Amino acid sequence: MSEFVKSLEISSDQLRQVMAQYPTGVVAITSLSRDDRPQGMLVGSFMSLSLEPPLVTFMVALTSSTWPALKQSERIGISILAHDQQEICKKLSRSAAERFSGVDWKLSSHGSPVIDGAVASIDCEIAEVHRGGDHEIVVCRMLGLEIQRAVPALLFSHGSYGRFSQRDEAGAAASLGDLLACLDAARPHMAHLAEKFGTIVTALAPSGDDLVVAGGACAGSLPDNRIRVGHRLPSRAPLGSIFAAWGGPEAVETWIRAVNPRDTQGEIACRKLIQRIRERGHVLSVASSSSTHVAVLREQYSECPKLPLDILRSRINVVLEDYNRDLPADELIDFQFVSVPVLGDAQEPLVSLSLWGGERPFSGKEIRERVDAITAAAQSIQRARQDRGSVQ
Ligand SMILES: Cc1cc2nc3c(=O)[nH]c(=O)nc-3n(C[C@H](O)[C@H](O)[C@H](O)COP(=O)(O)O)c2cc1C
Repeated sequence: MSEFVKSLEISSDQLRQVMAQYPTGVVAITSLSRDDRPQGMLVGSFMSLSLEPPLVTFMVALTSSTWPALKQSERIGISILAHDQQEICKKLSRSAAERFSGVDWKLSSHGSPVIDGAVASIDCEIAEVHRGGDHEIVVCRMLGLEIQRAVPALLFSHGSYGRFSQRDEAGAAASLGDLLACLDAARPHMAHLAEKFGTIVTALAPSGDDLVVAGGACAGSLPDNRIRVGHRLPSRAPLGSIFAAWGGPEAVETWIRAVNPRDTQGEIACRKLIQRIRERGHVLSVASSSSTHVAVLREQYSECPKLPLDILRSRINVVLEDYNRDLPADELIDFQFVSVPVLGDAQEPLVSLSLWGGERPFSGKEIRERVDAITAAAQSIQRARQDRGSVQ
């Protein structure tokens, strides 16, 4: 076994890259210095080790200049940082001399400095220290525990900080309730816009890794495949761009990676697209080829969600070309649709509303009128949701 390990050539870059895929929490290991000042360092390698006796463990690099002093301390404090303590985390990552400036701390019941507002703090004494490669494995006996704030912990993954977001049944039920309330508030607005412009208005919602047609309205009794509720689309660029643009950095990265992790040109195009959508507040699709491709994509994907990626990509690339072009001043142009987000209480996108064009070409003025109308409708729906929330 050891021969096998020896025979593998693993570069530290490779190791870091792989381990970056595995999220960790972030804790501050602290103690008082001889002159009663807080000293400490952040570690991501903290975990619980034993219940009986109660032990925790973390690993420290042999190169750490702070650890030798911490190791001498009779007691140490461990503070589990909270998701909203990213600023504190940055401060604690500074050089040892200035690490605690601007960081609020307090003395624990066992006399160790712990970070104020952390999720929990633990008082420990060091029980054992083992050598593990270029690190020390530190085993600590717990002396006391305190939950300071029962909020989600800060997580570190892929070189950036974030928090855990629950996707269990309770979470899904809450978001389903939000979605249904949003669609209910959207219904009259969608019907009004469909009649006013003699067209179709659809609502798209995220569902797992897909997008699903969640509602629709049409003028008169136009039968149309675009409002077949339940039809699915892949949430791959540029489809689902509304949810990426308003879903935060993590949503953007997931959305871009789903296209093709090695396609740099595609990635640049997608990032530009997101920036443009945020600046404009809407997605506009003009030119005729894209609607055919979206329609085919929707049909095929609903029948067969495992459609080969290369087919998906080729169709998606055509659609991408037609997104958010500048409107011509005076010539007529094919107008496919304009989409806007309806945002929830935390400014998260609940649904994307689309007002569709038609067979004939449109003037820039007509397209702008439709953009303004659907934008105003989305804002009214948001207000209606908030009003309903406040009377519940
Ligand atoms: C999120 C995060 C996690 C870290 N995890 C560890 C760790 O598990 N072990 C470790 O030795 N250093 C870890 N470090 C680095 C130390 O916090 C510290 O920067 C390093 O020891 C150098 O500072 P020092 O010379 O004062 O010890 C981590 C840093 C950050 C920002």
